[in-house]
Amino acid sequence: MTIVEEATDAHLLRFPEGFRWGASTASYQIEGAAQADGRSPSIWDTFARTPGMVFGGHTGDVACDHYHRFADDVGLMDDLGLRTYRFSVAWPRIKPDGGGPVNPRGLDFYDRLVDALLERGIEPMATLYHWDLPQVLEDRGGWTNRDTAYAFAELAAATVARLGDRVPTWGTLNEPWCSAFLGYASGAHAPGRRDPRAAFEAAHHLLLAHGAGVAALRAGGAREVSLTLNLTRVTPQDPADPHDVAAATLIDGLQNRIFLDPVFKGGYPDDMRALFDRFGASGVINDGDLATIAAPIDLLGVNYYQPSVVAAQVGAAANPNYPGSEGIVYPDQNTPVTAMDWPVDPTGLGDLLVRLSVDYPGTPLIVTENGASYVDTVVDGRVSDPARIGYLDGHVRAVHDAIRRGADMRGYIAWSLLDNFEWAYGYDKRFGLVYVDYATQARLPKDSALWFREVIRRNGLTP
Ligand code: NOJ
Repeated sequence: MTIVEEATDAHLLRFPEGFRWGASTASYQIEGAAQADGRSPSIWDTFARTPGMVFGGHTGDVACDHYHRFADDVGLMDDLGLRTYRFSVAWPRIKPDGGGPVNPRGLDFYDRLVDALLERGIEPMATLYHWDLPQVLEDRGGWTNRDTAYAFAELAAATVARLGDRVPTWGTLNEPWCSAFLGYASGAHAPGRRDPRAAFEAAHHLLLAHGAGVAALRAGGAREVSLTLNLTRVTPQDPADPHDVAAATLIDGLQNRIFLDPVFKGGYPDDMRALFDRFGASGVINDGDLATIAAPIDLLGVNYYQPSVVAAQVGAAANPNYPGSEGIVYPDQNTPVTAMDWPVDPTGLGDLLVRLSVDYPGTPLIVTENGASYVDTVVDGRVSDPARIGYLDGHVRAVHDAIRRGADMRGYIAWSLLDNFEWAYGYDKRFGLVYVDYATQARLPKDSALWFREVIRRNGLTP
């Protein structure tokens, strides 16, 4: 080590020993091979084919063709120094009928993937549900049907039975808020329903699925069990205005507490219970459900992209993503935004992590997604993406700061390994550390990937 390096290292913002660094993906967003080896259609296959729902009529039919290129992609992860890889399994591959018999060819794919990861010393982290519900289950009501929760527990049991000997860390659901409220209230995501009652019913059944899934994973010997929520810091525009404060409390309820409180405190908060009542959804909450949902977990996954600032405004219509939010608006903030138009503010992540460790103590935290979409272009065989580096650097720093402020952080997993199918935005928005040329399926690490490799190598940031 040269003196210069020693001097730099002495000033490193170091992360704890064993801190996990990696990247995330999700099955429908990268796999393609939509009809391979017995996979049945998911709600996203249907939604993407519904005119007007996805930018450019894009679908996940081919995506990044990861199903056929996984071995090279795992090699790429290794080259980039990633030590954890968070992926999701496609329910329609494993159980094409939703419930019932397992399709062994579907599980074979994840078996090959996991072995390839382990050969390279990359720790697999498997999520059981990242939004690709079998269409056959949606035809029976999807997440508004209680049976979907039990079918999910069977998926969990079958998957851990096959992979549990090699996958140490399991996630039940990814961002159930999106499944419930984007899927069933605003209809911006599959299955595209617009019915607030259905959204609250879905939220409860997703939580029930999580709880039943935890039990199935434990019974199958899973070593570490987690849930990933998309959480954020919600602040009032004017902290001195009680109306703005009340607005922030309600949105915090609809975004954060509606999932956190049942899982960690064994019950819905009163304001959320009132919304279940108002929309006629309370009937789905059965005796015993909350005990199932509150089963202890080993790790909480936090997906964070942007903070939220809200204000009260008499007469404002409810945001369709937040049923019951009449009279609340989202004033423009003077912060830079990403290509998604999402404000960039890493303090939102730091504050969120500290808040979680205070309000819901005792469960270690891991950032399971964080990242940004920018317009990327290849120039002379290189993608220079300083804005993404700035975004990631700021947020990794915020995680470090949260540790200093007492949060029990176990890792930082960036979204995403590859550019991929960004849901309703199709391939128009790029979140990857690695650029994908969809015409040729060539992969090209962006400058941000090379920056991230250095962070991982040092287990720290230069101040
Ligand atoms: C969260 C979701 O889990 C992921 O699928 C999505 O692509 C990113 N956010 C970016 O929007």
